[in-house]
Amino acid sequence: MTRPARPAVAVLGALTAAAALAGCGADDASAAETLTVYSAQHESLVRTMLEDFTAETGIELEFRDANDAELANQIVQEGEASPADVFLTENSPAIDILDDEGLLAPLEQSTLDQVGERYRPSSGTWTGFAARSTVLVYNPEQLPEAELPASILDLADPAWEGRIGIAAGGPDFQAIVAAVLAMEGEEATRAWLEGLERNADVYQSNTAVMVAADEGEIDAGVMYHYYWYRDQAENALKGDDARLHYFRGQDPGAFLSVSGAGVLASSDQPEEAQQLVAYLTGPEAQRKLAESSALEYAVGAGVDSADALPALDTLEAPPVDPGELDQRRVTELMQEVGLL
Ligand SMILES: [Fe+2]
Repeated sequence: MTRPARPAVAVLGALTAAAALAGCGADDASAAETLTVYSAQHESLVRTMLEDFTAETGIELEFRDANDAELANQIVQEGEASPADVFLTENSPAIDILDDEGLLAPLEQSTLDQVGERYRPSSGTWTGFAARSTVLVYNPEQLPEAELPASILDLADPAWEGRIGIAAGGPDFQAIVAAVLAMEGEEATRAWLEGLERNADVYQSNTAVMVAADEGEIDAGVMYHYYWYRDQAENALKGDDARLHYFRGQDPGAFLSVSGAGVLASSDQPEEAQQLVAYLTGPEAQRKLAESSALEYAVGAGVDSADALPALDTLEAPPVDPGELDQRRVTELMQEVGLL
């Protein structure tokens, strides 16, 4: 396969030539101007968090945006030759794939120390930089509070046939499946997925699931919290009737999905790449996340998330090591039961 074009190359070439002419030798300093960032997180959130990075460090950023699976697969295929210096994911299973392939460099301890332990893998090869809570979005007219399920696993029960919605094809839902797999094992996960395959309508996105619950097309659906909070902040145009149910009690349905940041082992600018991940998890970028309209959770030590959200420590998320989420097995299982 052909490698994608890298516009930064022309700029770097010019700088190298200038440095050589100036008689200071075309050494590393000249190549340290632009980092290539492969990013699958929401574009606006990443740009907001990194708004002042270039002004503060002099390091330019070049982004390549696509979804988790596309970028992870691209980096695996590019291997050592990948132009990527930093990988930012929306959900962590995609960055685990690179970790499994040995494509990530260990992060500096000072960077890891900026992030609460439960929001990064024990391996230390990448870190979370944002978190999102699994929720059940539901229509209170059709599903009274007293009938809300206690566990996300209950949704496989025949009683839910034709009543629920999921965005099965997206990395968000698949991260939740990966958490169920890590917590419940393969047999229970397959049985759960078989139940979902029978019970659920499949939608293209979290927003579509929320709208379907709002309009009573389904009684309830699985998604992440921020789609609802954002809509509320924008006058609830899509979900004025829909409500959120948090499973809590360390249920797999209370899974917190972290967005991951890692440095490629093949980066030719490892110091600058480490600097970027340090910045992204540091107080300034984390505060920007907390104050932005994204309404995802900050994971930086000592940074509170937006006031509109229930505090992270009230969500009773299960203790899942985000480094132990097996996207490949999830894809296979979902294909086996016909959800993909
Ligand atoms: Fe999202």
